[in-house]
Order: sequence, then structure tokens, then C-alpha cells
Amino acid sequence: MEQKKTYYITTPIYYANASLHLGHAYTSVLTDILARHHRALGDDTYFLTGSDEHGIKNFQSAADAGKTAQEFVDEQVQKFRDLFKLLNISYDQFIRTTDREIHWPGAQALWKKLADAGDIYKGEYEGLYCVGCETFKTEKELEDGKCPLHAKVPEKIKQENYFFKLSNYTARIKEVVESGELAIYPETRKNEILSLLNEGLEDVSFSRQRKDLPWGIPVPGDDSHVMYVWCDALSNYISALGYGRDNPVLFEKFWPANLHVIGKDILRFHAAFWPGMLMSAGLPLPKAILVHGLILSGGVKMSKTIGNVIDPIAVVNEFGLDAFRFYLAHEINPFEDGDFTIEKFREVYNAYLANGVGNVTSRVMKMSESYLPERATSLEELRSARKGDFENRYNTAMENLKVNDAAQIVSELVKELDEEIAETQPFKMIKTDPEKAKEIVEGLVEGIAELARLVAPFMPDTAQKIEDAIAANKMPEPLFVRK
Ligand code: MSP
Repeated sequence: MEQKKTYYITTPIYYANASLHLGHAYTSVLTDILARHHRALGDDTYFLTGSDEHGIKNFQSAADAGKTAQEFVDEQVQKFRDLFKLLNISYDQFIRTTDREIHWPGAQALWKKLADAGDIYKGEYEGLYCVGCETFKTEKELEDGKCPLHAKVPEKIKQENYFFKLSNYTARIKEVVESGELAIYPETRKNEILSLLNEGLEDVSFSRQRKDLPWGIPVPGDDSHVMYVWCDALSNYISALGYGRDNPVLFEKFWPANLHVIGKDILRFHAAFWPGMLMSAGLPLPKAILVHGLILSGGVKMSKTIGNVIDPIAVVNEFGLDAFRFYLAHEINPFEDGDFTIEKFREVYNAYLANGVGNVTSRVMKMSESYLPERATSLEELRSARKGDFENRYNTAMENLKVNDAAQIVSELVKELDEEIAETQPFKMIKTDPEKAKEIVEGLVEGIAELARLVAPFMPDTAQKIEDAIAANKMPEPLFVRK
């Protein structure tokens, strides 16, 4: 029997310090669309997401909320799970870095590997630490003395820590990035990381003293230190698969990952720290990283101070989940920054969903219901009738991770079906040449079956409703009501 291809895809794990906003929702929806597409292709797909719960940021947020760190993250994580349920994120596993049974053994086993390779050493460090980024910053990276991402002056931290000899791996990382052995999409991000590699990588402070931060995974062999939050977090991609535990079946089956999906703000950690750690441990590298842009609101970064933070739950409540997912896929090029305003959302909703997917489905199914009451073709037959150009271009777009192009192909299909109805006018022809009209409507139903298949990764519920309507040979309730 032919073995199915495996496909392991991940989101970053989200900081448990605050509620997730539209930007985070974008990472999850984008990853979910790709995961669903691979399942539809028949790949044995594994989709991992989760929460990043250690580090200074989470610890401080818990203190600000007057809670213990564990209480605080437990509550946050419940909200994350609820949001992912609402967004219909089809993950196979949700990993938590506070999980002592699943995550800790993996993170500690990986640390031991780095130590065995001679890549962990103790050193004194003084630097400027941005809690928002959970990383040290160089003077050069600051603007007016502040972290440009968080508009905050970083804290001066001086302490004795364990270090990871990342500098050892600069040349090898550069080689794999350049050759594409570790593919980085898009090209602009690949170039960005190559220029960082050309400057040479510095060793990374990889632990914090427990007396300063009593919240983290103990460093193997030295309980007075906890692991640096990025060292802890990155290992989730393998700890989730059982790395460091007995009989890691998933790890053997799915590692290396096919794709890590991340935002551009965390490129360096994934394209420099992570491959360095894996090289040191002698483990295979992920095959590719998709680095998406940031979602802006009205052209500017979402921020509480500006008051333009968009809450995904509010949008979903007003327009429905599938419309929300479709907007993110159709309107945002994953390779660039994207924009989201409610005005733009409404336009897209009306043009492509209410007057597009929804309208064409109703029209075709209405004709099918009236003119073809005996229609007996199965969904399977209908589906395979139209495998061709749209599907090929769609699959290529998905393969190239251009999810927006794939979503636009859906809109092209809708347009083609609309044009076909306008040109042939089967609702008139039914009176003059009923046989021909029926044939045309049958063809249009095939088009709608294709539409259901192509929209499925973006709008799973809508796809199901379309297929149900086809199976019942009935016009569905309006899929999208004009707003
Ligand atoms: N905990 C780290 C990731 C560790 S992975 C081993 C982290 N968490 S985060 O919660 O800050 O961000 C998670 C994801 O959300 C990242 O991919 C980040 O790029 C994305 N986004 C956060 N704000 C965003 C926008 N405004 N727009 C698009 N994505 C953004 O980083």
C-alpha cells in the first residue's frame, strides 16, 4: 500500500500575557487554511498550536492581575482555546509550556543535547532587555533608546547566565538558508535573515537565575536557573511530538516539520536560534518557514493607545466566522503587511460573499431544484466532473503558500459561473429548449460542487452548507445576507 505523505504544520505558541487580537487570529487562520488544504489533498496532516506561558512578560502580567502565575495562565489559556474553537481552528494538539508531562521532558532533553555537544557555557552578561520581545536588544536596534516594537525603554540586566554558542552555527545556518534546505518564504525575509547571518550571530543568554524569575523550566543539573523563555518555547515543536519521552511515535512520524508559520517579528528566533539549536542537537531541520507580515488597522499598527485594536470576536459576531476567515485569506497577502478596517471588510463581504459565493449558489440551486427535480448525480461525480484549470492553479497557489491567490481563484470561479448564467440564461431557455437548459444547469451544479471544494479550507461551514444543498437538491438558506 502506498504510504500517505505526512505534513506537519505549526503556529507559534502564543504568549499567555494578554488576550489574542486580530493579528494573532491571522496567524492561526492562515495556518488552519493550509492544514485543511493538506488534509483535503490526502496528506497525513498534523497541526500543532499552543501557548507560551513562561518568561518575564507572563510572570509580570500575572502579578499585575493579582494572581499566581499558574492561575493567570490557566485562565488565559482557556480563553485561547475558546477563541480557536470560535475560529474553527482544526489543530490536532494544543501544547502548553507549563505542561510538565508533555513539554518539560522535551525541553530538558534538548537542553541536555546542547550541553553534551559542548554548546552551553556559563558567562556574565550585561545587556538591554525588552520584556515585550523577551530578548536582549543591541543599541543599534533601538530608536530613541526605545524598542521600536514596544515603544519602551529596555531594562538593563546584568547577571551570570548559561549561554548557548549560537555563534558556532552562523556559517552552517547561512548555508542551509542560502541553499533552500531550510526554505524561508518570502524572499524578502530570506534576505533579511541572510544579512543578519552575514553580520555573524552572537551567543545567546539561555537562562535566568531563579531568584530573579521563579517561573520557568529548571535548567537540567542546575536548579538555581530556569531556561530562557525562547529556548523553552522553541522546543515545543518537538516536545509536542514526544521528543524526550519514551517511545516518541509522533516525533518519528512527523519530524522534521514541513512548515512553521510565523509573523515577521519573530523571524530571527525561528530562522537563527532554532536551526542553531537543532544543529547542535544533531536533529533534522524544519523544511520551511512562512513569514507573514503584520496586520495593520487603517494603515497603522494596532495599539491600545491609538484605540484601533480589532477584536476578532466582535467581527465574527457581526459578520459570521466564515466571512472573517475569507477576508483574511482573500485580502491579505501573506508575504506582506495587510490592512483591516470594518469599512473594507463590509465591501469585501458584500462583493465577494453576499453578491458572490452566496448569490451564485442560491441561483444555481434554485434552478436545479426547479428544473432538475430528478437529478441523481452524486456529489462525488459532480466534483470530479470539473477537475481542471481552476483546481490546478489553486493547488499551485497553495503550494507556493499564496493563500490569497488561491482565495482569489475562488472569486474567479464565482465570476465565471455568473457569466455563464448571464450568457446562457437557462431561466429563459427552459421555455424554448428545456433539454439544453437542463444540461446547462447540470453543468452549473458541477461548478457549484467545485466551488464547495475550493472554498472548504477558507470557509468550512459554508462548504458544508453548499454540499448539503447539492445533496438535497434544494436552494439553501441565504449563505451571506447583504450588510
Ligand atoms: N510566544 C512567541 C512565539 C513563540 S513560538 C516558539 C510570540 N507570541 S505572540 O503571542 O507575541 O505572537 C504570536 C504570533 O502572533 C506571531 O506569529 C506574531 O507575529 C503574530 N502577531 C502578533 N501581532 C500581530 C499583528 N498585528 N499582525 C500579524 N501577526 C501578529 O511571539
